[in-house]
Amino acid sequence: MTFSITARDTESQARTGVFTTDHGPVQTPIFMPVGTAGTVKAVHQRELETDVNAEIILGNTYHLYLRPGLDVLQRAGGLHAFNGWRRPILTDSGGYQVYSLSNTRKIKEEGVTFKSHIDGSKHTFTPEGVMDIQRVIGADIMMAFDECTPYPCDYTYARQSMEMTHRWLDRCIARFDATEGAYGYRQTLFPIVQGSTYADLRRQSAETIASKEREGNAIGGLAVGEPAEEMYETIELVNGILPADKPRYLMGVGTPANILEAIGLGVDMFDCVMPTRNARHGLLFTTAGIINIKNEKWSRDFSPIDAGLGGYASTFYTKAYLRHLFKADELLGGQIASLQNLTFYLWLVRQARIHIEAGDYVSWKNGIVGQLMQRL
Ligand code: GUN
Repeated sequence: MTFSITARDTESQARTGVFTTDHGPVQTPIFMPVGTAGTVKAVHQRELETDVNAEIILGNTYHLYLRPGLDVLQRAGGLHAFNGWRRPILTDSGGYQVYSLSNTRKIKEEGVTFKSHIDGSKHTFTPEGVMDIQRVIGADIMMAFDECTPYPCDYTYARQSMEMTHRWLDRCIARFDATEGAYGYRQTLFPIVQGSTYADLRRQSAETIASKEREGNAIGGLAVGEPAEEMYETIELVNGILPADKPRYLMGVGTPANILEAIGLGVDMFDCVMPTRNARHGLLFTTAGIINIKNEKWSRDFSPIDAGLGGYASTFYTKAYLRHLFKADELLGGQIASLQNLTFYLWLVRQARIHIEAGDYVSWKNGIVGQLMQRL
């Protein structure tokens, strides 16, 4: 993977760049739609490519390992061949889902034993095993196996957990470097900074992760309930240590405001279920603000969903029609809303790139963020 920075903001740490994988280039800053189980929920690949213009999507080790399972994925020739997505894929390691979804889990030095949320069957994830699984899935970017600490988290637990994440990282790297991709294209491995909200732990973790000199680095353990200010302070501290010439990925973030702030702090990559999950509940992100499309006030509003966005679903369908679909529990409602929200998130990062290049990122961000976050 190569990464080159194409513009730097002079008033903040924001930058634009492009990284290139064997499945093509990705412009940064970028938002990556979440495709947990091999599908970005309710959105066709064709719409993702042409309407949303997603450049890279996520998959998830935990979900794909449980269903459809490695035998199916291997026989298919990897996830790209299985689901027909031709652009880059990043897989999360399961170091988050194993804690948030599985019924019971035991964390030991060797790895994590857990029960499937689907059928209760028992499994163990080790750092080596998680590398092997992501090799079979065939993600362009694989993530290290980590523990995402909850918030709040006492200092001793946070320190011990971070130290174990670092030891797991060494095992991930050893396995990754000793193996090859199964499908003839290159894969890369990103390590993950942890350390909860403790400045000394975050500093130590960022230094450890930076010393591994991988092709990109991630920040985990944030957006887990801490105040936004604490999240921003942590990002600022960590980004001051992570190498500036490699992509920085902030995992699981966030709202439009979170993303714009983090871009100003030097983050290049984001993922979050928020646009797709909220869409399925009728909550829309638009260029005018946030809409709950189920509200009665939209029942006779025959204006486009979001004229300012210019996307297909945003201009073709009206608010009144989309509200009707939600009230009638029609599947198309979730589809249109998902398209709207993802198109909005990709628009947001594209605007950020344009304004970083134009040299007015901070004033643009400060001017627009209130409008984007207001409830209509
Ligand atoms: N997704 C959101 N936060 C995290 C994290 O800390 N670790 C991993 N692996 N995935 C995440």
